[in-house]
Amino acid sequence: MKLGDTSRAQPVTGVETLRWRDDALEMIDQRVLPMKTAFLRYDSAEGVADAIRSMVVRGAPAIGCAAAYGIALAALALSRQPRGAFLEGLEAAFRILAASRPTAVNLSWALDRQRRVLDSLGAAAAPAALTRALLTEAHVILAEDIEANRAMGGYGAALVPDQARILTHCNAGALATAGHGTALGVIRSAIEAGRRVTVFADETRPFLQGARLTAWELMQDGIPVTLIADSAAGLLLSRGEIDLIIVGADRVAANGDVANKIGTYPLAVMAQRHGIPFYVACPLSTIDLTLRHGGLIPIEERGPDEVTGFGGQRWAPQGVAVCNPAFDVTPAGLISALITERGVVPRPDRQKLRAIAG
Ligand code: MRU
Repeated sequence: MKLGDTSRAQPVTGVETLRWRDDALEMIDQRVLPMKTAFLRYDSAEGVADAIRSMVVRGAPAIGCAAAYGIALAALALSRQPRGAFLEGLEAAFRILAASRPTAVNLSWALDRQRRVLDSLGAAAAPAALTRALLTEAHVILAEDIEANRAMGGYGAALVPDQARILTHCNAGALATAGHGTALGVIRSAIEAGRRVTVFADETRPFLQGARLTAWELMQDGIPVTLIADSAAGLLLSRGEIDLIIVGADRVAANGDVANKIGTYPLAVMAQRHGIPFYVACPLSTIDLTLRHGGLIPIEERGPDEVTGFGGQRWAPQGVAVCNPAFDVTPAGLISALITERGVVPRPDRQKLRAIAG
């Protein structure tokens, strides 16, 4: 069955991270950027789960979009099967995708959206109709993500003064989303609103999302960016050379605690020490009201190879013990404001989050 629904125009802002082409999902390979710009093609849920696990696609909202397409791809492959086998195969796809990475809640959020599509069409629907609906929902999730980032950018831009020197960590840009970005979306929108800014990008050891992805993405758009080693942030802050910090999020607990890329928490501590604002930009799909506080957020532990070397080159001694948590948790008390598509939440807490995301 050929669905080929490429008719839904995808507004492209920043780099194109994921796209639907000829019944397959194409994703830019973020493991090899910026040395190579290559799109990889996926036609199965297993392939998409592997792409999420191996960081071909990364960043909370982008992972959610990829997972939604993963379900559509599973449905497409199973759509000629009898209903029982179709639903059984889909359940396996849900399980495989859900297990691909643990911290970003956008993954399970997107899978829940797809499950609601199945539930809403009910027991009688034919596999072909369910498949069409699941693909449409994946397109909707992608388009909504770009819209949310645009809205977030609009709200966040008001917090960025002219001539701001902005520090960011990891990559919360177009590459981490369907387009425009969350933290980098705020920066893009501030520039569109006429602010002149300079971005300082932490290199973000161990996977180097800042050095490889943020630096490249901003340079593509001609946005002034200076790359720093993670350990240089403190000096710049102490010299008064940073006006604000803005990052994305992988999961926000009900009390406002934020899980984001490892190394975010010390930045928030330093921001408080030096009296500058620490902002977190994230869509409502990143807020998890089911977890009371950040201590309950599952923190992914990744393999030792990311710390002992990079890209096949090893610099640590063979056999050394390695600890490689991929995320940390910033307590809500250190966050000046959460920027969402529904507005800015200053000093986020349980009550404010329930009001905006409940
Ligand atoms: O391990 P990654 O690269 O998936 O981690 C990504 C981050 O921590 C981002 O800051 C977060 O997902 C927000 S992206 C808009």
